[in-house]
Amino acid sequence: MNKKFSSHSARETKIFAESLAQKLIHTGKDKRAVVLGLVGNLGSGKTTFTQGLIKGFGVQKRVLSPTFVILKRFCPSKRSGVQNVYHIDAYRIHRKDLLDLGWEKIVSGHNVVIIEWADRIRSALPQHTVWIYFKHGKTGDERYIIIN
Ligand SMILES: Nc1ncnc2c1ncn2[C@@H]1O[C@H](COP(=O)(O)OP(=O)(O)O)[C@@H](O)[C@H]1O
Ligand SMILES: [Mg+2]
Repeated sequence: MNKKFSSHSARETKIFAESLAQKLIHTGKDKRAVVLGLVGNLGSGKTTFTQGLIKGFGVQKRVLSPTFVILKRFCPSKRSGVQNVYHIDAYRIHRKDLLDLGWEKIVSGHNVVIIEWADRIRSALPQHTVWIYFKHGKTGDERYIIIN
């Protein structure tokens, strides 16, 4: 997947992420988890994007930034075919902390793992990680979302 999206509001970012979740459901039939590595400065929209993604997987619960909680687990709808959606904030963690969270099991199941500040634990993430970059645009609400 290679995509560059320009968003003009938090709402637009959420809707974009929600539609992306639909696509990931269909490609996520693998035994291994879909790992999404989110990279970007504070306020660039990583958590906003995550809220849209999680909604796209049919999770009803509201998503708050997990800055003070390293790992959050959500139950997606049965229809999504995904067992668990995990949201990880890697701002303060190291490779070892990730392993302590039961990482091996998480990445080998039918799960989706969304990681904010993923560049901080880059070496611990699998080869098949989908990297998503967030950048501020020229105007206040403009953001670029680049998927590799
Ligand atoms: N186009 C946009 N996309 C995402 N967020 C936006 C956009 N425009 C303004 N915002 C605002 O920017 C902030 C982004 O915060 P957040 O998603 O928590 O970023 P991060 O998790 O990267 O620190 C929110 O207050 C959001 O309302
Ligand atoms: Mg955040």
